[in-house]
Amino acid sequence: MREEQKKTIKERYEQSLQKGERFWPDSIFKDVLMALAIFVLLLMLATFVGVPVEPKADPSDSSYVPRPEWYFLFLFKFLALYGQIPLLGKVEWLATVLIPVIYLGALTLLPFIDRSPNRYYGKRVFAIGIMAIMVTSMVSLTFISDVPTTSTDAVYLPGLLQTLGGLVVPLAGYFLLALMNFAFKKAPAKAMIWTTAVTVLLMIGLTAGTVALAPILETVEVEVADTLEEQIVAGQDLYSVHCVECHGDDGSVTVIEGVEGLEGTQVMAINGRDVLYTLNDDSMAEVIAYGRPDAGMNPFGRAYNPEGLTKSEIDYIVIFMRYAWDDRYEMPPMEPLFPALAEGEAPSYEVHIAPIVKRYCVSCHRAGKDNLNYLMTTYEEVLTSGDHADQNIIAGDPQSFLLLTIQEQTIPDPETGEEMIGVMPPKKALSADIVDVFLRWIMNGMPETAGEAGALSTMPAATATP
Ligand code: HEC
Ligand code: HEC
Repeated sequence: MREEQKKTIKERYEQSLQKGERFWPDSIFKDVLMALAIFVLLLMLATFVGVPVEPKADPSDSSYVPRPEWYFLFLFKFLALYGQIPLLGKVEWLATVLIPVIYLGALTLLPFIDRSPNRYYGKRVFAIGIMAIMVTSMVSLTFISDVPTTSTDAVYLPGLLQTLGGLVVPLAGYFLLALMNFAFKKAPAKAMIWTTAVTVLLMIGLTAGTVALAPILETVEVEVADTLEEQIVAGQDLYSVHCVECHGDDGSVTVIEGVEGLEGTQVMAINGRDVLYTLNDDSMAEVIAYGRPDAGMNPFGRAYNPEGLTKSEIDYIVIFMRYAWDDRYEMPPMEPLFPALAEGEAPSYEVHIAPIVKRYCVSCHRAGKDNLNYLMTTYEEVLTSGDHADQNIIAGDPQSFLLLTIQEQTIPDPETGEEMIGVMPPKKALSADIVDVFLRWIMNGMPETAGEAGALSTMPAATATP
């Protein structure tokens, strides 16, 4: 620093001293007042707003995937993006220790590196440029922290945008700025301002693109359920397929039956206040996404299971559980599962059986499940699959295995006499009207469409639908 510059600065300092206020007590008093105000604000926030709690901690649960607090999400996302770099991505300590230390170190050292006495920002382009990119980078990484980094799709646009906006562009910005600052004798301020501006704008654009694209992609494969009724129905369908085998159609199961590997396992009834009042919507969605792998419930979330449920699908399940079982919510009037049968009317697969089977049976009887190889996801499968396909469903025969099992009879092995097929569904008997639908369907020869069923119906002419 030149002598003369030092002198002017000293003079200015003396001047401000004259008109300035005293540190004690004036400044201190202001500080204390401000600190008190913030303390009261925090107290109010904690009391009246609060932070949603996660499910109760379970020390024996090794599958718990912790998520950092929001102010660390940027680091979390950075790690995820960094992990994708070929070769370098494998060296984890680089990203977890070295790079953050360099980052923080650079911030700490900045005042020592940049010793310019000037406060006017036109003269501090390098420091401000680096800082601007860093801050933008932290903010945008925080914003995109929820968007999955990778996907099984061949072309995953949000992933590409993230890598560009979160990694490539800021790195290029730092590099260019450093180059201009150190390579030239007199740093080209204009070029540096432009570089900073373009870098920051690009990052903002790419972040906005990522955020805008992510939910669109997520909802493509799901039908979008707009109304509450649609969401409850969507949730119930998903629950029927994924959860009924262990928790039963009404969440009341306390001892699992009919599920390989979990026979006799104790579970909490998930339809009572114990679960519904202790888990808020977020924690409930987390339970579904992470599962309880140690207890036998696999993760259902896309992030832990490539074929898993999307975030909105999980939300629909939670909505269904609330409206169906939580006494703080009132179920809106819903369509019945199937239209009631009139006297002499024959039910069809498409109108009656399919929705019943989906709600009560498919959870255990679908691809990937080994229950005597009986699959029930299509008309053909219901009629022709299973180790006892020739006896499960026999047109006109009330002794069909299926009809016996749903009427709480077990089927013994003809040779050993031991139980071969248990009651279906294993945990809770079907209601009488559902048993009646199965009975009439098989007695009438298993019509597939409503038209075929109509032709078989023996309704009095007056009540037959035109
Ligand atoms: C393969 C069996 C299985 C399936 C399928 C299954 N769960 Fe579970 N679930 C369990 C077991 C076991 C537990 C642990 C019960 C306990 O700790 O009391 C559990 C616990 C839960 C809990 C209570 C968690 C807690 O800690 O309070 C909820 C809620 C739950 N499951 C919801 C679901 C939903 C929703 C689905 C469908 C998406 C589902 N489960 C599918 C077996 C299963
Ligand atoms: C909780 C899982 C579960 C649910 C839900 C379930 N099943 Fe089963 N099902 C089984 C198991 C396990 C077997 C193998 C036999 C046994 O262990 O009892 C089986 C076997 C059968 C069989 C014999 C298949 C064959 O070819 O030998 C029939 C028929 C059957 N189930 C019908 C149904 C019907 C109808 C429903 C719905 C109303 C249903 N099941 C719901 C678990 C389930």
